Amino acid sequence: MSVEKTPIAILISGRGSNATALIRACEDPSFPARICLVLSNNPDAPGLEMAKKAGLRTLAINHRDFGKNREAHERAVHTALTEAGAQAICLAGYMRLLTPFLTGAWAGRMLNIHPSLLPVFPGLHTHERALQAGVRVHGCTVHLVTEGMDEGPILGQAAVPVLPDDTADILGARVLKQEHQLYPQVLRHFLLQRPVSAPAECALLVG
Ligand code: GRF
Repeated sequence: MSVEKTPIAILISGRGSNATALIRACEDPSFPARICLVLSNNPDAPGLEMAKKAGLRTLAINHRDFGKNREAHERAVHTALTEAGAQAICLAGYMRLLTPFLTGAWAGRMLNIHPSLLPVFPGLHTHERALQAGVRVHGCTVHLVTEGMDEGPILGQAAVPVLPDDTADILGARVLKQEHQLYPQVLRHFLLQRPVSAPAECALLVG
């Protein structure tokens, strides 16, 4: 069954494994999104090459060209997103702190995936911090992006056990596998629940 596909853009900074998962999902005619642009602030992001090989339109807008002016960089990004016809944005390892300009322009239409069960462990080094804290359950979250970092309404979560011999790398790999399933599932749910003003509730518990 084919559905109407909403044009979405993916923003990345690095390897792009979540972007790959979203690209694969969008290849399914019954998935309610198509990717109109993969954009990176890092011209050397391996994920850009991967997206190009998948036949997608890619663009690098290097934040270094804008010095300390975050908003000027975001305005260029915003123009590119708009010109590409994006109606929603998926941040997938986009390693930039956003200003109110971009979060405001895409409020309710910008999703992010974070490698912890928010609201615990916002920010970086989540797997190390989970191990240090001794939690027994860890995971990932897809949420709407708001001004506060990793603070927006939660759209979906996937949980994994923390096992006795885990290192940050082992735990991170277990979480990443779930990220690749969670992000497309939540995006599908999110797009089908439009209008998006009332965030969809979708909680998953994955073993
Ligand atoms: C993922 O762990 C994601 O949750 C976080 O950044 C990482 C990006 O990895 N926001 P990848 O580029 O998708 O492989």
